Amino acid sequence: MSNILTHFEEIKAKGLSIDITRGKPHASQLDLSNELLSMEVEPYEGSIDLRNYGEPLGIEGARKLGSELLSAPYENIITGEQSSLLLTYQTILANYLFAEPIAWKDMESPKVICPVPGFDRHFRMLEDFGIEMLTVPLTNDGPDIESLKLLMKTNKNIVGMLCVPRHSNPSGEVYSDSNLRDIFNIGISYSKDFLFIFDNAYLVHDFMPTKSQKPIWEIATEESASAQVVEVTSFSKVTFGGGGLSFMAASGKNLSLIKKMRESMVICPDKINQKRHIQFFKSVR
Ligand SMILES: Cc1ncc(COP(=O)(O)O)c(C=O)c1O
Repeated sequence: MSNILTHFEEIKAKGLSIDITRGKPHASQLDLSNELLSMEVEPYEGSIDLRNYGEPLGIEGARKLGSELLSAPYENIITGEQSSLLLTYQTILANYLFAEPIAWKDMESPKVICPVPGFDRHFRMLEDFGIEMLTVPLTNDGPDIESLKLLMKTNKNIVGMLCVPRHSNPSGEVYSDSNLRDIFNIGISYSKDFLFIFDNAYLVHDFMPTKSQKPIWEIATEESASAQVVEVTSFSKVTFGGGGLSFMAASGKNLSLIKKMRESMVICPDKINQKRHIQFFKSVR
């Protein structure tokens, strides 16, 4: 113990100023994408003029990139602006205002399951809407299933779950496939309107082999849960923070609801930036 304290005092004495914000790339990582800054972009995709309004769901190449990233069918993909957090917020807002059969705002004390430790910005969003958070402890393999079952058994009006399934922020857990299957089965048997929101912000961020995970959309499809899933990711921590692209996979009434919400908010995403990213990456691999 005294060794640790001495070591701590030594480090403290150096007066270091280190930014340990999680998820913030180092300048040398950002340098890897510098080509994007000076890239010539062909401002057309086929007959579509990328400089103009149009293509609210994103241009074809960018949606294909999203389909490859999220392993979800092309028709289920929206490629948006630079922030996946914005897509998550839009999802919550759309459900709060317009969810079928009942808008969350019209329910008595709607609740969302949040694994903890979790992402402070998720908590803040739910707080904005006055939605109660029910916490489930995280294990190395994902949310503790017995605690989840207990919460579902003892609470009414749980509308969904918001979580980071890979390298969970802040503590880094990667959910196992069987944990994900359990979550889907518990959620769909609770209600066919239970919404699984997966913020897959760290989907492509493995520097060395880590725990493998079958794509969320594939597991959801196998468990007959994809109609209840919204999955988002982005390039904020791949190319430039706030300068990348965001992606969403959703289907059925979720996709319609989010399209409706977005139609009121954004006429179209930045298609030039989408094209720049397509040219830069060519494909996911
Ligand atoms: C789990 C998680 N989701 C979302 C974000 C932000 O992503 P974006 O820049 O695409 O909104 C972060 C950034 O730290 C994050 O850790």
